[in-house]
Amino acid sequence: MTDKIILTGIKPTGTPHLGNYVGALKPLIEMANENKTFIFIADLHALNTMKNPSDIRLHTYEIAAMMIALGLNLNNAVLFRQSDILPIYQLSNFLMNVTPKGLMNRAHSYKAMVEKNTDAGIDVDSGVNMGLYTYPILMAADILLYDSDIVPVGADQKQHVEFARDIAGYFNNTYGETFKMPEPVIGKINGIIPGLDGRKMSKSYDNTIPVFAPESELKKKIMRIITDSKLPEEPKDPDTSTIFQLYQHFASESEINDLREKFVRGGMGYGDAKKILFEKINSVLAESREKYNYLMSHTDEIDKILSDGAARANAVAEKTIARVKKAMLG
Ligand code: ADP
Ligand code: TRP
Repeated sequence: MTDKIILTGIKPTGTPHLGNYVGALKPLIEMANENKTFIFIADLHALNTMKNPSDIRLHTYEIAAMMIALGLNLNNAVLFRQSDILPIYQLSNFLMNVTPKGLMNRAHSYKAMVEKNTDAGIDVDSGVNMGLYTYPILMAADILLYDSDIVPVGADQKQHVEFARDIAGYFNNTYGETFKMPEPVIGKINGIIPGLDGRKMSKSYDNTIPVFAPESELKKKIMRIITDSKLPEEPKDPDTSTIFQLYQHFASESEINDLREKFVRGGMGYGDAKKILFEKINSVLAESREKYNYLMSHTDEIDKILSDGAARANAVAEKTIARVKKAMLG
């Protein structure tokens, strides 16, 4: 337990998969259960790409239900929807005035769009809305609003946390010490979770296994994992096997060693290895899946938890906004 404040946002852009679970959600819950943590569903950040409100709503519920079902301790953690916090709109607007346009030009996701458009020979800003362009300002507002010290994110988000530090610095230089300097913490699970086709599990590759897929779907997906064509009797390499990589994140040390041994020795077909993997994942997730299903059919209970969270988050946010207004407007 530290007395530092941890904060992170999760964008509701898809149904969480085992890669998100192992790489982000599980470690986040472990961290949140020991520290004061703000976790929000970043629905405002989804708006620059997602135009269907019912998709945003569904994925927001899925993420919230998942965090609760996986045992997030709601005494330490404040779980809420980003859009429920009015000061977030205020702070991003205030921060616009100390953020150089050139900083936004350097943001990876904006630059990627510009490069794509340039290669296609079309206007550099084609398809770029201001939500995308100012995304890092909204994210800086998220981070600075709650006096966050530590921001756990995936490697792709590190630049955004660095921008939040830059923006805090510009603000403090202009108006005096107002914001703390947040630190990015990049998740360091060993390796990337592979998907059904062996590439990184990602919704962009359509190779995912949803965390709380019904048992029959979980089994079907696992049985569809692509393997090489080694025969049952042949020795197999656990370290290049998607089955084994996934198993490592769910099984105990001795179970992992057992399966490794079976791979290396030969005599086990991939079909049997997949059955072992299915049984393991299913048994680890079964109890949480029941809770998750219950919550997804009682979304009023999720709403209640999110609005309690919003009230707690707002109490902190309003103090920050008062400080910012005083600094900027006197
Ligand atoms: P996707 O690639 O499906 O769009 P996101 O980019 O939304 O996933 O991922 C959110 C977080 O989940 C990332 O910051 C990362 O920490 C984690 N994550 C996603 N996919 C994987 C994976 N295959 N292996 C490990 N971690 C992952
Ligand atoms: N941009 C982050 C992502 O795409 C989500 C996010 C929004 C976030 N606001 C944040 C993460 C603040 C950390 C802190 O994953």
